Amino acid sequence: MDKNSKIYIAGHRGLVGSAIVKNLEAKGYTNLVYKTHKELDLTSQNKVERFFESEKPEYVILAAAKVGGIVANNTYRADFIYENLQIQNNVIHNAYKSGVEKLLFLGSTCIYPKEAPQPMPEDCLLTSPLEYTNEPYAIAKIAGIKMCEAYNLQYGTNFISVMPTNLYGPNDNFDLEKSHVLPALIKKIHCAKLLNEKKYDEVLKDLNVNSLDEAKAYLKDFGVDENQVEIWGSGNPRREFLYSEDMADACVFLLENRDFTDTFSKDSKEVINTHINIGTGVDISIKELSLLIQKIVGFKGEFTFNTEKPDGTMVKLTDPSKLHSLGWKHKVELEDGIKTMYNWYLSSK
Ligand SMILES: NC(=O)c1ccc[n+]([C@@H]2O[C@H](COP(=O)([O-])OP(=O)(O)OC[C@H]3O[C@@H](n4cnc5c(N)ncnc54)[C@H](OP(=O)(O)O)[C@@H]3O)[C@@H](O)[C@H]2O)c1
Repeated sequence: MDKNSKIYIAGHRGLVGSAIVKNLEAKGYTNLVYKTHKELDLTSQNKVERFFESEKPEYVILAAAKVGGIVANNTYRADFIYENLQIQNNVIHNAYKSGVEKLLFLGSTCIYPKEAPQPMPEDCLLTSPLEYTNEPYAIAKIAGIKMCEAYNLQYGTNFISVMPTNLYGPNDNFDLEKSHVLPALIKKIHCAKLLNEKKYDEVLKDLNVNSLDEAKAYLKDFGVDENQVEIWGSGNPRREFLYSEDMADACVFLLENRDFTDTFSKDSKEVINTHINIGTGVDISIKELSLLIQKIVGFKGEFTFNTEKPDGTMVKLTDPSKLHSLGWKHKVELEDGIKTMYNWYLSSK
């Protein structure tokens, strides 16, 4: 890949896409192409076809997708399967048609079975049933992996699929109704601290509301007041987190240094499970995570654990051995990543 190779980053304003753009720019890549969702709706077959015909990118990173938490995935099941299949079908097929040299498809570890062995290796894909709540999303992502494999085998393309664990970092979604656990905890603990320190103007600014009563009522709905933050479940489930800039670095590393042919054993009769997990292989309990964020934010109150709410899967950890054997390992440890993310959050207010 030359520093002036034309690289199209789909989803460049998202958590992952924005980190990839930053990483590529820092490494001196000058010919980056991107379009906002409004400028190019990737679910439109005609528009995507015209885009590839006119731009002719040499490399593609597919970080655009309809993404959401458990509730959104479970509620908008049709939208999650339809939009994700459309986006990836259009981008992957047109990348093939226009002769793209290499493409990176981003999936997620929710492709693995509900009862997958822990840590989860790539070859546990399609070995037993999926988690019901995000099954449509996972099926779309599995179709993306299979599409990359099939195009590589039939047409000789060089399309690689990566499956990142839970990501966090600057540009994350902090909306309490839609956010993932880590940004939600940062926002809740930060607002509790502001209430505790009677910094009411800052609470109003953070929540973008006009009255303190409104702010307190909103936070109460999420179990937050000046003395405590409620955590759903027992706090015992363990989760893995990767800093978004590390994720971006792994993607650019693979794009620069590895090909599809590096992703499977040459001795195997069938070419399957060519996707690559991207994770740290290290997990932390939700309770330990809350205490870590409390220390970083400087909140003096307490946590309560609402055991009426479900815990979900107790352990969900990736096996990153394949990625390590391909030559990449994570660099940002969780505490450092959360400190950087919290500073970004404060400066964005
Ligand atoms: N975040 C995580 O923890 C995580 C974990 C594992 C895997 N991943 C994967 O990483 C990828 C990127 O995730 P992310 O967290 O960066 O998501 P994100 O922050 O929601 O960004 C997704 C991007 O895709 C764009 N997009 C969505 N629908 C589009 C459409 N129809 N046309 C054009 N653009 C569209 C969005 O633009 P608008 O906002 O304007 O719609 C947004 O910029 C996804 O494939 C996801 O499955 C993420």
